[in-house]
Amino acid sequence: METHEKGFFTEENSVEVVTGRNANAQDPRLKQVIEVITRKLHEAVKEIEPTQDEWFKAIMYLTRTGHLCNEWRQEFILLSDVLGVSMLVDAINNRKPSGASESTVLGPFHVADAPELPMGANICLDQKGEDMVIHGRILDIEGRPIANAVLDVWQANDEGFYDVQQKGIQPDFNLRGVFRTGEDGRYWFRAVKPKFYPIPDDGTVGKLLKGLGRHPYRPAHLHFILKADGFETLTTHIFDPHDPYINSDAVFGVKESLLAEFKRIDDATRAHELEFPGWFWEVEYDFVLTSSKKG
Ligand code: BEZ
Ligand code: FE
Repeated sequence: METHEKGFFTEENSVEVVTGRNANAQDPRLKQVIEVITRKLHEAVKEIEPTQDEWFKAIMYLTRTGHLCNEWRQEFILLSDVLGVSMLVDAINNRKPSGASESTVLGPFHVADAPELPMGANICLDQKGEDMVIHGRILDIEGRPIANAVLDVWQANDEGFYDVQQKGIQPDFNLRGVFRTGEDGRYWFRAVKPKFYPIPDDGTVGKLLKGLGRHPYRPAHLHFILKADGFETLTTHIFDPHDPYINSDAVFGVKESLLAEFKRIDDATRAHELEFPGWFWEVEYDFVLTSSKKG
């Protein structure tokens, strides 16, 4: 027996026997990852003490989760989302200095080739919903405007559906667009107030949420990806703080700093300027980007 071989497998020495077998791994990162996972997994199994039947149910759950994945649907990402793992990986990879805008999950509804639109455009293409204007600045950490920053926005409609979920019902590229800032770093566009919606809950993740007594809803939000030369790309949302699900987002994406006030404006002159027929919602929000890491 070689030194890294730890003898026959027993309940007590399970971790050492299994991880010892990986002593000749070529890739140190793979070796580290599998060692940690083996340790934590064996610890969980020892604490849970599953029956053979329960273990098989777990295997079948993951099998069904895999079978639900295709070009359009990624049930494993959804599972990672509802277990808080997506937000944890996001937090670890996006530690920001104080004053910088915080990140949150990307989600499955981003479309890469949304049209670039002139500042002020209305991204609502079907005139459905309550009018809203959103404006603010894209700044660096010193408060200076960032010119030529690209803001990619997408949101659900007033019934809680993205265009890609309602092909043939909503126009293509409804409630999405790409805007580029000028020298003043300002952005503005028109849209409609988004609504809360359930994450896809007709699969294994929905079944798990039901079993855990959890709802599948995300509070109303707008998604953004912000890019500018010399700055870290920021993937984030802004949320309606008065949404009924603001404290129980199914995927844990809400952060205090991402709450924006949705103000109801009754001002006929401003409505006229914005080409809205009557009262509307106004949201003002500044984004602060951090410089790219050097080296
Ligand atoms: C979303 O906000 O689009 C989303 C995020 C995570 C899971 C499902 C949807
Ligand atoms: Fe969303």
